[in-house]
Amino acid sequence: MATKLITIDQDGSEQELRAVASALVQGALVGMPTETVYGLAGNALLPDTVRRIFAVKGRPQDNPLIVHLYDQSQLAQVAEQVPAEFYLLYEKFCPGPLTMVMTRSQVLPSEVSAGLDTVGIRFPAQRTARNLLRLAEVPVVAPSGNLSGRPSPTQAQHMLDDLDGKIEYILDDGPCALGVESTVLDLTVSPPQILRPGVITAELILERTGLTVHETSSAVSTKASLTVSPAEAKTEECSQHGSVIFTPRSPGQKYRHYAPQAPIFIARGRDSHEQITSLLSRIESETDKRLGFFGAEDTFDALRRRMSEMKGLPAVNIVTYLYPGSEQVETATHELFAAFRELDAAGVELILTPAFPRREFGIAYMDRLERAAESEEK
Ligand code: TXA
Ligand code: MG
Repeated sequence: MATKLITIDQDGSEQELRAVASALVQGALVGMPTETVYGLAGNALLPDTVRRIFAVKGRPQDNPLIVHLYDQSQLAQVAEQVPAEFYLLYEKFCPGPLTMVMTRSQVLPSEVSAGLDTVGIRFPAQRTARNLLRLAEVPVVAPSGNLSGRPSPTQAQHMLDDLDGKIEYILDDGPCALGVESTVLDLTVSPPQILRPGVITAELILERTGLTVHETSSAVSTKASLTVSPAEAKTEECSQHGSVIFTPRSPGQKYRHYAPQAPIFIARGRDSHEQITSLLSRIESETDKRLGFFGAEDTFDALRRRMSEMKGLPAVNIVTYLYPGSEQVETATHELFAAFRELDAAGVELILTPAFPRREFGIAYMDRLERAAESEEK
């Protein structure tokens, strides 16, 4: 099968989207841009299509898919017993990067929920996703459009790299605005609980709606209990998670996700100087390796300066993926998955990158980074 790449024009390519939407309703698989990451979209009401999505991605059978809707008028089709919190959250955050888990309707094929009695529902904000959902009029399942275990795609090219020849269409509407997947919030428990951190944080939810939700991240909590020393825990402000033993409620959390092939070294420290010291000591012990660096230009310049001052350090080969200026967590989030893919393609054997404090965007960012780094740090 030839995958058709469609570039969305300024006006949104309505005519072409119409044809893609009707193919999607009939069972075609479509690479769909969203504000978080690109998704692999299919008609949620067709069991064969849902099964094909799992097959194409190589996705474990027990990891449920998120259902994407245009607006809340479609909700009754896919959910039952909609909790009151939903309406409050919908008003403040939808359309947007928030997935809400509630009791599922029996109309949905059981494959969507991988056997669970709940369903995750999201209303994406990105214009092409919205146009496609509006034209298709059916609920649409869309996991991230990567091969299972690979970093999520934040550009159409990433989807093409993973799935060319396996799906019917990819809609190219440029790089995703955020670069990290939606917050998954379980509304079947009280208080609601964050199953996967995203840019909509517990703090933001409290601030905008007055709702208290529990924040649990498996990566943060298990890693904190496994590997973070008390000193680091203080710097990273994660000591509160230190003693939490986490049981995954969201099946996706038990897999090593977002992983480049190369192991990752996260440079920790109270400030940039300490982080660079940490990078230098790692570089010193890995001079024989092809190293990769992901971070801000300013950080890399400072690193290079300090390397040049070090006596006896042999010439080291560092492949870089840099963004302009100084460390910015929004920019790092936007670039993270693209950096993983590019550094992998360059054949690096170890990726070096600085940590960010766990607040605002930093919560989701460190969750993804630490998951990706898991095998290196364990
Ligand atoms: O931003 C996003 O959410 C992107 C875009 C394409 O919308 N989608 C995405 O889907 O990241 P996926 O399949 O890669 O990740 C979905 C996550 C998994 O961790 C899965 O376990 C969890 O959501 N999930 C889905 N349905 C669930 C449910 N009923 N209960 C608990 N967790 C659920
Ligand atoms: Mg995914």
